[in-house]
Amino acid sequence: MNHQLLATPKIIVDEPVRERSAMLDTAKISRDSPILSRLVNGRRLVYLDNAATSQKPGVVIDALKHYYEYYNANIHRGLHTLSEEATAAFEGVREKVRNFIDAASEREIIFTRNATEAINLVASSWGRNNLKEGDEIVISAMEHHSNFVPWQQLANEKGAKLRFLELTDDGQIDLALAQNVIGSKTKIVAITQMSNVLGTITPVAKLAQMAHAQGAVFLLDGAQGVAHLETSVRELDVDFLVFSFHKMLGPTGVGVLYGKEELLDKMPPLLFGGDMISSVHRERTKFNELPWKFEAGTPNIADVIASGAAIDYLSELGMNNIREHEIEITSYALKRLRELDDIKIYGPADAENKGGVISFNFADIHPHDLGQMLDEAGVAIRAGHHCCQPLMHDLGVSGTARASFYIYNSKDDIDVFISALKEAKKVFGHVSCR
Ligand SMILES: Cc1ncc(COP(=O)(O)O)c(C=O)c1O
Repeated sequence: MNHQLLATPKIIVDEPVRERSAMLDTAKISRDSPILSRLVNGRRLVYLDNAATSQKPGVVIDALKHYYEYYNANIHRGLHTLSEEATAAFEGVREKVRNFIDAASEREIIFTRNATEAINLVASSWGRNNLKEGDEIVISAMEHHSNFVPWQQLANEKGAKLRFLELTDDGQIDLALAQNVIGSKTKIVAITQMSNVLGTITPVAKLAQMAHAQGAVFLLDGAQGVAHLETSVRELDVDFLVFSFHKMLGPTGVGVLYGKEELLDKMPPLLFGGDMISSVHRERTKFNELPWKFEAGTPNIADVIASGAAIDYLSELGMNNIREHEIEITSYALKRLRELDDIKIYGPADAENKGGVISFNFADIHPHDLGQMLDEAGVAIRAGHHCCQPLMHDLGVSGTARASFYIYNSKDDIDVFISALKEAKKVFGHVSCR
């Protein structure tokens, strides 16, 4: 592959007007997020890096500002007005999260820094206390490093075995082979809800059922999925669910661990200190009840409160409408990409089986070069291994380019993206000959 990071020529593309999607008013939604009206390299920003993080609507930014300007205080401690208001707002978001993922109780909702921390909490607290030599941990071949490395390390520490659910040729979990992998030695199955590389939506309920049939617990990595799919932990019957608010319109620095109460009750805290105790004596400490047992120290109050505004915004749009919009945009993007010569698209061929994530390689242009060239046209995509090096190895590539969509993306954005790709091919061909 060519790799010319330094040679990044200007690309000029047409700039069509945004249109109204059948399901979502993408023009209005775009206006709601101030960043989406900025220019990048003199071009309208076309933001297609949503699998990395999402842009934030004004209501989320306002919630942050309002907290700091009006009722900034530490929570759970003071009896003064500001502290009571901050505590009510913070705990109110816990209830919103409970409702959003259909958990049975607020005691099952733990705030963390991100999805990664939530997985590490389960691997350390549940894993260290429930795994022994010879046990098996099952993950899939397309897990993000965040749902891979913690289990690999735990397996190494305990003398347990890490096993993999393999993929079919079009990037779906091979359920026939899964029967041979999830077995009597399996203690936990930890799988993504939606692949951040292939976009694959996994058969969560079926896999959870297979895990439970063997007496294993099931962890769902919803870092991608929860932002795009209506998710009910009770319907899916998952034991743990993790996700990050920054991928669903919220600020950075807030993740969620959902866990079934009977499991969380038995798990020891990971961090010790303030807020996670009910009483402390020189010789011993009694831990707080759920969920605060797992929330040591001052939490990320402002960002949790602003995450509540993100939930309200998504709920107003409706998760089913968001999914329909995503199918429409992804189908259109797949169709337009397939019109190009020299394109290799990875993952499920049909938008019904995948989220709004398309990984590809194009015209022998190194993904990093492509990313830089598209940036010149104001189009933000991602390039690299996407924190999925084992999957890249299986695909036989060092990296891919990735376009990922969300509620504000329209077919016009896809058209700008496709024009930029065509220009990149023309320009890159020209540059390579010099
Ligand atoms: C599938 C998946 N799991 C886990 C993560 C980790 O999320 P965070 O970095 O917010 O902890 C990501 C982030 O891209 C992801 O895509």
